[in-house]
Amino acid sequence: MTTLSQDWYLEEDFWRTFGPLMFNEDTFASGAEEVADLVELAGIAPGPVLDLGSGPGRHALPLASAGYPVTAVDTSRLLLDQLKEAAGELPIELVEADMRQFRREQAFDLALVMWTSFGYFGDEADHVQVLANIRDSLTDTGRLVLDLVGVEYLARNLEPVHLTEYDDDLLLIERPLLTDNLTRLENEWLLIDGDKVHRAEFSHRVWSAGEITALLARCGFDVHGIYGDCRGGLYDLEAERLVVIAGRGETSAR
Ligand SMILES: C[S@@+](CC[C@H](N)C(=O)[O-])C[C@H]1O[C@@H](n2cnc3c(N)ncnc32)[C@H](O)[C@@H]1O
Repeated sequence: MTTLSQDWYLEEDFWRTFGPLMFNEDTFASGAEEVADLVELAGIAPGPVLDLGSGPGRHALPLASAGYPVTAVDTSRLLLDQLKEAAGELPIELVEADMRQFRREQAFDLALVMWTSFGYFGDEADHVQVLANIRDSLTDTGRLVLDLVGVEYLARNLEPVHLTEYDDDLLLIERPLLTDNLTRLENEWLLIDGDKVHRAEFSHRVWSAGEITALLARCGFDVHGIYGDCRGGLYDLEAERLVVIAGRGETSAR
């Protein structure tokens, strides 16, 4: 398989091939831990939650188990079907929609965009559109949690080639590169499965803490905190994540 399209994130083949590597027992367990940490860090009230780019529900499932009504939005039918199966009777609404279009006026106390599910678009106006949609979908006291990887960490730690061996003899070769004046991460993934090789090329936007703060401010958010993980760790050059907690500002755009 080769994925060269600009819209790689909309291709079911990408998630069918690489999804099982990303969404496994370990990453589901870390999703549950992140939810517990974020409830504390963001001071989340027990209201409706929007999980944007939910995937198969690493965060939607533990949130719903804890009693939060969750709306899980994703473009992948495949991943939403996996979430549906796991959800059973839990209070999770599944919405197959693109985050560039999904908007529900003042409906959510919390919007989560986890594990770098934001930044996929080639056109920056689409990122602005998504943030405007989120802002409109939050209640006045609502919070946005953006979980990204910061360019500061990538610039310092990126390896030209990275190998991961999985239990079932699968080997993933990653060849990442920072491009476009350190604003995009281009990736080539080769998954070796016996004598089969799956190859994907994709890229996404990356921001520094300062840049994402400026973008959020431009879209009418006040940034309440920048952290290096969901526990509220320091955001520094060692921080593997760039976790931003923001609220609706006074005006919708500046
Ligand atoms: C890296 S996965 C993260 C999934 C989940 N947030 C997690 O932490 O496990 C990115 C997810 O975003 C979804 N996605 C990609 N583009 C999207 C779009 N334009 N609108 C909604 N969802 C999108 C993908 O289908 C995928 O489920």
